Amino acid sequence: KEPVVGSSILGALQKYFELAIQRAYPDLTDAPVVVTVSGNSKFGDYQCNSAMQIAQLLKNQGLKSNPREVAQKLVSEVPEFSWVRKLEIAGPGFINITLDRSIGHRALSELLTKGVQPPPIERKMTIVVDFPSANIAKDMHVGHLRAGIIGESISRLLEFIGHNVLRIDHLGDWGTQFGMLIAHLQDIFPDYQTKSPPIGDLQKFYKESKKRFDEDPDFKKRAYECVVKLQSFDPVYKKAWELICDVSRKEFQKIYARLDITSEEYGESFYQTRMEAVVKELEQKGLLEEDEGRKVMWGRKDRIPFTIVKSDGGFTYDTSDMATIKFRIHEQKAEWLIYVTDAGQATHFEVLEACAIKAGIMDPEKVRMDHMAFGVVLGEDKKKFKTRSGETVKLAALLDEGLKRAGEKLKEKGRDQVLTPEELKKAQEALAYGCIKYADLSHNRIHEYVFSFDKMLEDKGNTAVYLLYMLTRIRSIARLAGHTSETLKELAKSTPVSLDHEKEWNLAKVLLRFTETLEKITRDLGLHHLCEYLYELSTVFSEFYDNCYCVEKDSKGEIKVIHVGRLLLCEATATVMEKCFNILGIRTVSKM
Ligand code: ARG
Repeated sequence: KEPVVGSSILGALQKYFELAIQRAYPDLTDAPVVVTVSGNSKFGDYQCNSAMQIAQLLKNQGLKSNPREVAQKLVSEVPEFSWVRKLEIAGPGFINITLDRSIGHRALSELLTKGVQPPPIERKMTIVVDFPSANIAKDMHVGHLRAGIIGESISRLLEFIGHNVLRIDHLGDWGTQFGMLIAHLQDIFPDYQTKSPPIGDLQKFYKESKKRFDEDPDFKKRAYECVVKLQSFDPVYKKAWELICDVSRKEFQKIYARLDITSEEYGESFYQTRMEAVVKELEQKGLLEEDEGRKVMWGRKDRIPFTIVKSDGGFTYDTSDMATIKFRIHEQKAEWLIYVTDAGQATHFEVLEACAIKAGIMDPEKVRMDHMAFGVVLGEDKKKFKTRSGETVKLAALLDEGLKRAGEKLKEKGRDQVLTPEELKKAQEALAYGCIKYADLSHNRIHEYVFSFDKMLEDKGNTAVYLLYMLTRIRSIARLAGHTSETLKELAKSTPVSLDHEKEWNLAKVLLRFTETLEKITRDLGLHHLCEYLYELSTVFSEFYDNCYCVEKDSKGEIKVIHVGRLLLCEATATVMEKCFNILGIRTVSKM
């Protein structure tokens, strides 16, 4: 079957060569299928490099083999398909694949008339993405900012390709710290049942109650009693808890709204009765072991155990995740679980998975689980990100700083002279939040990354500033020629995209690789691939634009010729860039 337009060319080529290898060498079971984009268009558009490795495998089995002959055999076994123009053997046994440009015409005209299409999926899945999951009454720190940015983006990507995504905020709203918070509230604001308490600064409130908890044994005893009351849902205590949660929740929501992050709250408290049930279940299955008064479960003996019940009878973060994973798989019917947190929790999720499998809660054949881990955020001094006085950076202040810097950047470029105040404000926000998000997403998430406004706001290189400008520039090309997206879309129905010039074809090929990039991300959850793609796209666009006139003017500056086929390429590029930004959660502006 020929690949449908919009599906990945690389994926299709891989399938074809896999088939060819099976036909040519039915006895080789582990022959690698190596198809890549070729680095130089002299060697075709794609390459298959399997022949050398197959020859080596044959040699290992004592068979005579020559890589060029292997390549020859593969070429003769590849099924016929219309969108490949030629297969050529080069060097020691490379197979150079040259595409027929008709595939470019077809795919780009579809892109222009129907918009960017996602790669086809085998089956629509329900996927839980767990983010940003901050904690009530504790600082929401840059780690949660990363979780929010990454979680939002991966959710958008999976939604775009057609899955049913449940964005879930596993808010830390339960646990023993609430005992002391409630006890403290009762002391300093006894009429909280009728009037809402003036807690302005919850961090301060937390510190005060913690101090009393550590110093005053009576207070400590009362705090424990409060936890018991709360966990049995006593309305008086529940009311106090709700008031406290609301203070944090409002703060968090403001940050998420600024950054276009949405996630539905299913806090730890939601699982209280399910925790009780899962503890019983694990007990009945004989999976809990006594350990110095605690009840623990072992996922694997050589790992640390999961603490299911504390010595005082209370539940833990581990208990809540056991109940949660059961809920997600059995009630929400999720087939894929993605947890977005810092890499420090890697062991926790590894043990959670092992325990869930052991308890029969999760079948690894049916459910995929990923810990989408990320590294720590560092300051420009390469030390943990802190304010000058050594405190955790407040996120609202950080976003404000971003706005200020973005505003300065636009002024520096004289944009305040050109744009209306409204356009300027839009550009400033897009730039500020866009640069923070892009800096985060363009790094391999596993690595630590250095937070630097100076770097993020550079005009050149792989930055949001450069890319957002590029998009507005591309949009302005059509505008100057008197066209809009709408008129070009209309023209695309009758006019083919221009693909004869080398640089035009190079651009088209990168445009065709969009779906490939998304498929790659669904495998390793590396959103930086999309940023690399976006950067490559704007680089090849620049090369195209420098070499191919879209609009020709005479000596008086009057427009003489408009190359519609090329404007269509501009429009296709802008459309794909727009989609990339959208998946990354970055707002675009038409003027900047
Ligand atoms: N609240 C946790 C933290 O701040 C993250 C929770 C992640 N999700 C989960 N299901 N454990 O570290």
